[in-house]
Amino acid sequence: MNTDTAKLIDAVQGKFIVFDGPDGSGKSTQREILAKRLEDAGAAVVSCRDPGGTEIGDRIRSVLLDYDLSTMNVNCEALLFMASRAQLTAQIIQPALEAGKTVLCDRFITSTCAYQGAVGYDPKRIIALAEFAIGDRWPDMTVILDVDTDEGFARVGRKPHHAGKNRAKSSGEGMLFDGAAPDAMEARSLEFHRRVRGLFLEVKEYYPTPVVTIDGRGDVQEVHRRVVEALRKCR
Ligand code: TYD
Repeated sequence: MNTDTAKLIDAVQGKFIVFDGPDGSGKSTQREILAKRLEDAGAAVVSCRDPGGTEIGDRIRSVLLDYDLSTMNVNCEALLFMASRAQLTAQIIQPALEAGKTVLCDRFITSTCAYQGAVGYDPKRIIALAEFAIGDRWPDMTVILDVDTDEGFARVGRKPHHAGKNRAKSSGEGMLFDGAAPDAMEARSLEFHRRVRGLFLEVKEYYPTPVVTIDGRGDVQEVHRRVVEALRKCR
């Protein structure tokens, strides 16, 4: 094992690390690259995703993402994300950390701050709800990958429609996409996704544990180097 990887393992062992960011920001790819590098060097890693990651959580996930959110109350939406996360924390994250493993999670409370924040939910209330759902098991480090909304859309293969064409309603937001059927969240408007990006950039101002924002543009290996650089600061 080279010294850089050894130092990286030292920094992240037994830590709970979240990858988050707008749709198409590359967080899942970065989580996978990091997991592989750690596992190849013999580190014990548990990877998970939020919402979902447990049988109960996956059922909640399908209520959220296979559903027309236009009729779902935003409190209900936020509580369902939290419910899935309460289960994930109790069933997967906490036991893995207690066993000294590194937990890498795709999305977490920062997503609720950004996505439900973008439909008007007060981020401070989200933090209070999260305290109820996860107790004090907050991530040790959250890495937000930032990309421009148009670039994120291009990466997930979705093109915004011109206003007025093929519009449908979802949670008070026009549906603006071409291509494969989007999930309920992807179906929200370009403006919604721009607000999401802006809210991701603000999270570090009020989140209770460290959040670093990384430029998600460019080559995946280059972005991985930026991620590793940030994770060295894990305490
Ligand atoms: P997913 O398929 O996991 O998205 P991605 O592949 O982009 O990670 O779908 C999760 C969707 O749910 C995504 O659009 C973000 C949204 N979401 C929220 O609105 N609130 C939340 O708290 C979380 C965790 C996700």
